[in-house]
Amino acid sequence: MKLLATPPDLNKIARPNWIEINLDALCNNIQFIRSQIPANTKILLPVKADSYGHGSLACSFAAKFGGADYLGVAHISEGMLLRQYGMDLPILVLGPCTPADFAYFVEFQLTAAITDIRTAMAFDQFLRDTGTTCKAHLAIDTGMNRYGFDAEDFNNIRAALSLKNLHFEGMFTHLATADMPGNPKTEIQIQRFTRLVDVLEAEGLRPEICHCSSSAGTLTHPESHFDMVRPGLALYGYNCMGAAPSPWPIKPVMRIKSTIRHIHDVKPGETVSYGGYWMAQQPTRIATIAIGYGDGYLRGEYNKGFVFIRGQLCPILGRVCMDATMVDVSHIPDVQVGETVDVVNGELDFRISMESVADDHHTIPYELTSRVARRLYRKYYWKNRLVRWDYLRKEFGVKDFKEYPLR
Ligand SMILES: Cc1ncc(COP(=O)(O)O)c(C=O)c1O
Repeated sequence: MKLLATPPDLNKIARPNWIEINLDALCNNIQFIRSQIPANTKILLPVKADSYGHGSLACSFAAKFGGADYLGVAHISEGMLLRQYGMDLPILVLGPCTPADFAYFVEFQLTAAITDIRTAMAFDQFLRDTGTTCKAHLAIDTGMNRYGFDAEDFNNIRAALSLKNLHFEGMFTHLATADMPGNPKTEIQIQRFTRLVDVLEAEGLRPEICHCSSSAGTLTHPESHFDMVRPGLALYGYNCMGAAPSPWPIKPVMRIKSTIRHIHDVKPGETVSYGGYWMAQQPTRIATIAIGYGDGYLRGEYNKGFVFIRGQLCPILGRVCMDATMVDVSHIPDVQVGETVDVVNGELDFRISMESVADDHHTIPYELTSRVARRLYRKYYWKNRLVRWDYLRKEFGVKDFKEYPLR
């Protein structure tokens, strides 16, 4: 791909908070996952929930460039949006398909997840009546109990796979405990799925693309690789096994940055922020930074966690506000208003990594990244340069948004 002329200087853009999306890291992580799976096993990048908050358009196009084979979304509208911008990779809608969606699956050439025999038969009938075609993956419930055909419901599974018009290109299940080492449920689920695949193979009904594992399954259960893997968190560069540095050479895709908006000193006995949960024991210099829970930064705990300023950890004081967070900068007395703050950047220090910040507030990196607010400006790393979306979309050849007719 040819690079365009020099991108504009992003530091001249007045935004108090922003996120940096490292698409080079995403491609690096795709390559790493590729090295962990058999050569003919495909990689599906889950881009649901706006790519876990990383931006589904940018991530989808970068992933296509980086060698991903398939994209996965939760809802049909997410897949339609990608098609409306010209994305041409196959897209599997992982959530249950319903009759209201049939026409859209056909029109937008999306792959449907079929979770019950009634829907399978109704879709098949729709395709026959309209003289159209569509690809589908059969969703199998091996123990997650979220959706799908029961793994032992052989009669209905056979009936669905024998339909003439709905083409079952794939079949998949989802593991509930793969991120819990030693949990016997994972092996039980993999065995149920393997048995089903073997039975269907023997009967000549096995779909071409069988898949089972998300990040934890892909990285810790090689027997779950089958024909495709669906790692989300690992491809976005975070440890899927808990709040510890990743044992794998993956790089975090998102960094959250802010700026210092105000600096002041407080005397001993003064409290900081709502509720007064932090009290100065000694004279303290405080920097008020522009990030808050209105940006998706977490507020659950107070007096918890750090940010990074000039390469030094600065403890968070009291409660996070909607648009501001106060931090202790007494150890960096000459710090200035306007300076950049690393709020989340796992490559600098694990204590400000996505995993650690999420854990401080009793949640998981998925929730933190997918709740990043829209008002945070996005900058992208691509080929080692920080670029804006308008620049990147030309690089990727993203088409103009195409409206579809209302029904
Ligand atoms: C069906 C399905 N596949 C794959 C994934 C990706 O999971 P992870 O991000 O843990 O790799 C998810 C995530 O929720 C999912 O629901």
